[in-house]
Amino acid sequence: SAAELDLRIRAARHSLGEKVVLLGHFYQRDETIQYADFVGDSFQLAQAAKTRPKAEAIVFCGVHFMAETADMLSRDDQAVILPNLAAGCSMADMADLDSVQDCWDELAALYGTEPDADGRVPVIPVTYMNSSAALKAFCGEHGGIVCTSSNATRVLDWAFARGQRVLFFPDQHLGRNTAFAMGIPLEQMPVWQPEQHLGGNSEALMGDARVILWHGFCSVHKRFTVEQIKHARHRHPGVRVIVHPECPIEVVQAADEYGSTDYIKKAIEAAAPGGVFAIGTEINMVQRLASEHPEHTIVCLDSIICPCSTMYRIHPSYLAWVLEALERGEIVNRITVPESVAVPARIALERMLSLSP
Ligand code: 13P
Ligand code: SF4
Repeated sequence: SAAELDLRIRAARHSLGEKVVLLGHFYQRDETIQYADFVGDSFQLAQAAKTRPKAEAIVFCGVHFMAETADMLSRDDQAVILPNLAAGCSMADMADLDSVQDCWDELAALYGTEPDADGRVPVIPVTYMNSSAALKAFCGEHGGIVCTSSNATRVLDWAFARGQRVLFFPDQHLGRNTAFAMGIPLEQMPVWQPEQHLGGNSEALMGDARVILWHGFCSVHKRFTVEQIKHARHRHPGVRVIVHPECPIEVVQAADEYGSTDYIKKAIEAAAPGGVFAIGTEINMVQRLASEHPEHTIVCLDSIICPCSTMYRIHPSYLAWVLEALERGEIVNRITVPESVAVPARIALERMLSLSP
């Protein structure tokens, strides 16, 4: 039962003390997030993994790419544990190394590899944090960088200082929303399909591309629509609509603001009591914000429940299992990125971390 699980988790944590630290993403369900020592967006969780010196084990309540990042940024003697190995991210799975390499090769054939008179290379690869360690390594090896939804603008500025154009993967929406806000017209952001081959058609397909977008998307955020925003404005006059930048561009444009999960949380915390918010992001987070802030009215833009099904897979029973194993001195569900991948991936991650305050 839930009460039994709760006792088991608390007992294991108590006996492990500071040897274990639990990190949790905002999208985790309440039953799980209640045990987290630190809750954050994906950028903050990456930083947190780097700055937990006492922990021998980091239990990561989130999804696979976040645990991989935590493993690469934590010390080698710290084990990163993902309580349920089936907690992936369907968007991260939409870009694999082979297809990105194919695209890269075609772009190299089209644009060459030599820097221009200002020293800018033809293409800089930028990967969203929501990607495999192998793709972060690809970016590290090719002069590129990682970004999250909280620093994408700063990262694209960094990239455009070094490159004439950017190849952005896997999320087309974050790439498009960020570049559009920086003044890049939509016509200069073609979407690359993995089966695409430029052949003799390169000009027509690529035009004067500034940002080449991968075709990936988040199935949770793709559901939000302009209709829902209209409906929210009709139902709640004066409502503040805030959405995550993984939403389609017409939704982001129709909203009042957009930002990372932590941005959304801070916007609500900073508002004067009596605020009315319609939020376009994962439902567990929206419902938690609503219950933590009874002084505001907080609703989800989508009235049909839209959880991230993979985040949801971190059930407390897995937590009890991995913690009790640790108590017995066993490490289960460890996420380890081989050094051959971690070394170049860290280059791309550290480029991002050094840009942020
Ligand atoms: P944040 O970096 O805003 O936490 O987003 C991570 C994510 O997976 C959103 O779907
Ligand atoms: Fe991936 Fe979307 Fe879930 Fe975020 S909400 S972890 S992008 S599937």
